[in-house]
Amino acid sequence: MSKFDGKVIVITGAAGGIGAAAAKKLAEQGASLALVDLNLEAVQRVISDLGIDDSRAIALQANVAKEEEVKAYVDATIEKFGKIDGFFNNAGIEGITANVEDYPTETFEMVFNVNVKGAFLGLKYIVPVMKKQGYGSIVNTSSGAGLIGSPGFVGYNSSKHAVMGMTKVVALEAAPFGVRVNAVAPGVINTRMMRQIEKNTVPEDAEGAKEAFGAAVPLGRYGEAEEVASVAVFLLSDDASYVTQSIYTVDGGQINQ
Ligand SMILES: NC(=O)c1ccc[n+]([C@@H]2O[C@H](COP(=O)([O-])OP(=O)(O)OC[C@H]3O[C@@H](n4cnc5c(N)ncnc54)[C@H](O)[C@@H]3O)[C@@H](O)[C@H]2O)c1
Repeated sequence: MSKFDGKVIVITGAAGGIGAAAAKKLAEQGASLALVDLNLEAVQRVISDLGIDDSRAIALQANVAKEEEVKAYVDATIEKFGKIDGFFNNAGIEGITANVEDYPTETFEMVFNVNVKGAFLGLKYIVPVMKKQGYGSIVNTSSGAGLIGSPGFVGYNSSKHAVMGMTKVVALEAAPFGVRVNAVAPGVINTRMMRQIEKNTVPEDAEGAKEAFGAAVPLGRYGEAEEVASVAVFLLSDDASYVTQSIYTVDGGQINQ
């Protein structure tokens, strides 16, 4: 029997690097999946790559920043599977790289809409389902940027600090109902997001920016999406049954050095 047999997990940002890696690990361990993303075709491709039966997966298009779309992805999951055991609240965007005086207000609002409001709405609609069930595990994707300041990232950093705050509050609200809430804080991870950040940070030498970012990590390299997914999957599993309100850095030792 696999660890996630009979379990239903919702993942947002499921077409992206970290979300798709988590979907793969969970599918291999028997989970049924509700995969949510803005990009429906990409999330459908993730499902067909998993090679699992339609009865075990549903692709759901939603903008996590829109309340009615969040409500719809939660309702569709319940309609298909009848419950939600785990929620990987993971969709996010990076914004741009600029100091505060040059940071466009509309970019700031956009980053907060997805990273903060999107994470909040996911919690708002999934926590009551889990409270009613009397069980559930939630993993919010924050970032190393949610723990320290990085110049040039006022929108992204402050949005990921907000995700830390939400994790701490909701973990306490949900604990009496047997629902756990934790966060992962990835460092520099080899996905589309870092490719964009490298370009935004040093447009004339993105490859050089990548080398410099990797060299700043004590383990001396970027992390892979699978390495973040492993920690998220652990937190979603019953192996983490006594873990709640915790922040797991997955950053090669970068943030706390
Ligand atoms: N890659 C890194 O280095 C890194 C580091 C720290 C934290 N993170 C966080 O990890 C999470 C996943 O990022 P990733 O690296 O896999 O990036 P990614 O860009 O590969 O994946 C993000 C996914 O989120 C989806 N998405 C974006 N906005 C959305 C919206 N409004 N509604 C629904 N879906 C939306 C995108 O379509 C994409 O599939 C993000 O929250 C990100 O901030 C990433």
